[in-house]
Amino acid sequence: MQNITTTLRKLFYLWSRSQVPVKQPIKISRIDNLIIFLVCILISIISSYKLLFFSPLNITDIFSWLFTFTEMLISSGILILVSKKENPTISSRQIILILTLLLAVQAMKLALASTISPLSMIIPPALIISQGMGSITALAWVSIASFSWPDPAVAINNNLFFILLVCASVVSLLGGKMRSRAQLLQLSIFVPIGAFLSQSILVGKNNISLIDKKEFVFVKGGIFSDSLLLAIVMLFTILFIPVFESIFGLLTKARLLELADKEKPLIRRLSLEAPGTFEHTLLICGLAEEATRMIGGDIDLIKTGALYHDVGKLHAPNWFIENQDGSKNPHDELDDPIKSAEVLQAHVDEGLKFARKSRLPKLIANFIPEHQGTLKMGYFFQKAKEKNIDINENYFRYKGPIPQSKETAILMLADGCEAALRAMNINASDKEALETISNIVYSRQKDGQLNDSNLSKGEIFLIKRAFLNVWKRIRHRRIQYPTSKNNTFS
Ligand SMILES: [Fe+2]
Ligand SMILES: [Fe+2]
Repeated sequence: MQNITTTLRKLFYLWSRSQVPVKQPIKISRIDNLIIFLVCILISIISSYKLLFFSPLNITDIFSWLFTFTEMLISSGILILVSKKENPTISSRQIILILTLLLAVQAMKLALASTISPLSMIIPPALIISQGMGSITALAWVSIASFSWPDPAVAINNNLFFILLVCASVVSLLGGKMRSRAQLLQLSIFVPIGAFLSQSILVGKNNISLIDKKEFVFVKGGIFSDSLLLAIVMLFTILFIPVFESIFGLLTKARLLELADKEKPLIRRLSLEAPGTFEHTLLICGLAEEATRMIGGDIDLIKTGALYHDVGKLHAPNWFIENQDGSKNPHDELDDPIKSAEVLQAHVDEGLKFARKSRLPKLIANFIPEHQGTLKMGYFFQKAKEKNIDINENYFRYKGPIPQSKETAILMLADGCEAALRAMNINASDKEALETISNIVYSRQKDGQLNDSNLSKGEIFLIKRAFLNVWKRIRHRRIQYPTSKNNTFS
């Protein structure tokens, strides 16, 4: 009996160790909460008030109004929960954007339902949401926007409703994965063509009356102009996505890839003015990318974040060892550990200034302070102790915050392992390399740097294996192949 209890306890211990620690949800201010609540109420009012316009009004109408009102309020709440689940770091501005788009669509249905196709009203916002907040949020939004029709006098044709759901779901699913503006353009051409063909087959070319009680599409236009309108609205939406990106802080895949271009002025400057840091950055990109792939994280985000993590070193490149190429170390000449610690902290502060000037999205700028967390500048702290300077240990720690996401935590670990792996002997065994990686990771864990990162023990194990794989690749590249003296064959 005792054996079973011990085994169960062990199993529970192993299970709990493999679980992701509970993460604090992002705090939303009271005013933002109030605005979000008011928008939800507005959506519910707009979606239901027409039910009170029946005369004479009886108790069933009042009940059906109350039901629709509550249904929309609950749906809006579910939409917020889904978006928070898919994007744990979603900001209140982005939640307000999703709800405002829903409010706009409901208002448009009231004003224009008899003149504009529902496809042109629902699919373009779904594209914005899938690009900025992911496919699941977009699908949840589409289902609420498609099922709720505020005007009881307007009922949508079943076939058209089916086409609307299919097209909007395709846009939601593909929109979240599109990695360039060109792919989005293709989507804005193929979806209207698909809608046109399916409407021709399912709804019928001559069947203008698409709804049961009232004409829905352009009276004179029909299916072709309907699809043309959809294509035009989608193209305009793609044109305006960058505006949404800057106003609401959306980070689309296309924007991430644009920022990861090594010809961007800031990255170009890094390669010219701080070549050592640039090399270090490229190696870190490789380590972090492999680790993120292993745990199923956001690869595009970490690749771009890694590229910008040390741009702050541009303020004084030769104060960092990787750019010194054997020349004099300015820290030795300065001979003041406190001042040296300030220079190190400045690479974070200046990095944030560069990020603001270059208008980097917040999710990318977060990599700058979080990759250093509140780590101790051990070398200079030791120097201060040797000089008997009586100063608090905290003065030799970076100001933080500690990594708040899996991606920034991976970058911190990659940053720590990079120099050690680069310096490792070419003949070192895999076991030795893994030991070095494990020691560095363990020291960060012990120091509490990974506490807010949401990384589980299992994921940390995978990250260590990924770093080892990258090191094996690097070692392989560094091995010189024996070549024949008269190298005539190839
Ligand atoms: Fe750094
Ligand atoms: Fe770094």
